[in-house]
Amino acid sequence: MARLTYLTGITTTGTPHIGNYVGAIRPGIAASKDPDTEHFYFLADYHSLAKNEDPEKIARSTLEIAASWMALGLDTDSAYFYRQSDIPEIAELTWILHGMTAKGLMNRAHSYKASVQANVEGGNKDPDKGVMMALYSYPILMAADILMFKAHRVPVGQDQKQHVEMARDIAQRFNHHYGETFVLPEAIIGEDTAILKGLDGRKMSKSYNNTIPLFADEKPLRKLIMKIKTNSLEPGEPKDPSDSTLFDIFKAFATTDETAEIEKRYAEGIAWGEMKQVLFEYINEQIKPARDEYNRLIDDPAEVERTLLKGAERARELSAPFLDEIRHAIGIRRLG
Ligand code: TRP
Repeated sequence: MARLTYLTGITTTGTPHIGNYVGAIRPGIAASKDPDTEHFYFLADYHSLAKNEDPEKIARSTLEIAASWMALGLDTDSAYFYRQSDIPEIAELTWILHGMTAKGLMNRAHSYKASVQANVEGGNKDPDKGVMMALYSYPILMAADILMFKAHRVPVGQDQKQHVEMARDIAQRFNHHYGETFVLPEAIIGEDTAILKGLDGRKMSKSYNNTIPLFADEKPLRKLIMKIKTNSLEPGEPKDPSDSTLFDIFKAFATTDETAEIEKRYAEGIAWGEMKQVLFEYINEQIKPARDEYNRLIDDPAEVERTLLKGAERARELSAPFLDEIRHAIGIRRLG
């Protein structure tokens, strides 16, 4: 039996924030230390086209995300760490999978449906107004990412669960039609505790513009933490940790003992200003060594580039022969 393979992609839109760190990067790096499992982490740069981002932003985000994983200690000699666009076999497989993907399946994708709904609600005559094929076929590219490396488990946020299920449907149909080829993947959804709240108390997300960048320098980090929403209880009044963004974020970084200690201080009525200072100092202390390394890598993009190319080379040792097999299976073959 092949080793259990975990694979996940990170779309190259935006700067990594502490919610990404707690929800994906930290658990991903921790999991990759298990020698009994295989891990694939990649930058889904072609996926970013679905959002029509500015080219400069995509390039910058690619550098920032790669540098973040590296600075936080991902072992890129054991885990596979690459950029989707460096693996041409993924794009080829995407097209092949188009032949096994029902249009009706894509009609049901949440992200596409949300765009249609926005058009309908906005009174547009054309429900597909502004919908590009990159958005519509997004789940097929994602299926190719997953199926190419025979991933068993795909750790994703709740919003991506449907895409992994679609990859499974597509694989199943392919296997049925052409013979056993793909592994059927399964989504793994992070626990709720891993979802961090942002400055305004809603889920921390780039789309809400309420994030705290993971490697913000000390001053901006402090400033942002000071902005986190609290209620109007006065210093000395007991406070409820279960209804406090500051507490949630602290808990996501601290040990159980330290968290219990802060819980006590909430009961004693710690002032919000003081709690913000405690949180700032705690996060800053924890992030500092990685932040120095991150800044070094940002200033040396050639090193990041080398690491990604090395990762792509290793990944292609798997994807190139597998794509040959797949092409053979579908009848695209040498003639003699
Ligand atoms: N679509 C995912 C997201 O936006 C990123 C992604 C692309 C991905 N390809 C993937 C995740 C393959 C898991 C597996 O979060």
